[in-house]
Amino acid sequence: MKVLVLNGPNLGRLDIRDSSIYGDMNYAQLVSQIESAAKTHGFVADVRQSNDEAEIITWLHEAADANLPVIINPAAFTHYSYAIRDAAEMVKAPLIEVHLSNPLSREEFRHTSVISGVANGTIGGFGPNSYVLALIALKALLS
Ligand code: DQA
Repeated sequence: MKVLVLNGPNLGRLDIRDSSIYGDMNYAQLVSQIESAAKTHGFVADVRQSNDEAEIITWLHEAADANLPVIINPAAFTHYSYAIRDAAEMVKAPLIEVHLSNPLSREEFRHTSVISGVANGTIGGFGPNSYVLALIALKALLS
């Protein structure tokens, strides 16, 4: 089964972001880890990244129309994009929010997620393994 794995702004630049927060993996390595974990758990991952809120919304519409499960790291949009929240709400297949870091242990503005309320669950703080854990959770939700 196909799963859309959507990544928000600045995640494509992991190579130059703070490695003490986001780890040492660059974006290409993250994508390949997600693709291989997806295969292990019986999924084909379509992994995408955009800095553009509108593009992420369009991808969520695509998931809603095709009834595709979604794993989404909305990055900074997590904290304020009601438009992404509304689009995520239209996805009826499972939708899991992930974060590389643990936003709750960071600055106060990161303690709010406007997405969590429409996600099946949220996984954060495990680096790239947050995505792997989300794939395992997704498999359980779909079985
Ligand atoms: C993030 C956490 C967000 O607060 C931040 O804006 C990001 C990445 C994470 O994966 O830890 O860009 O979503």
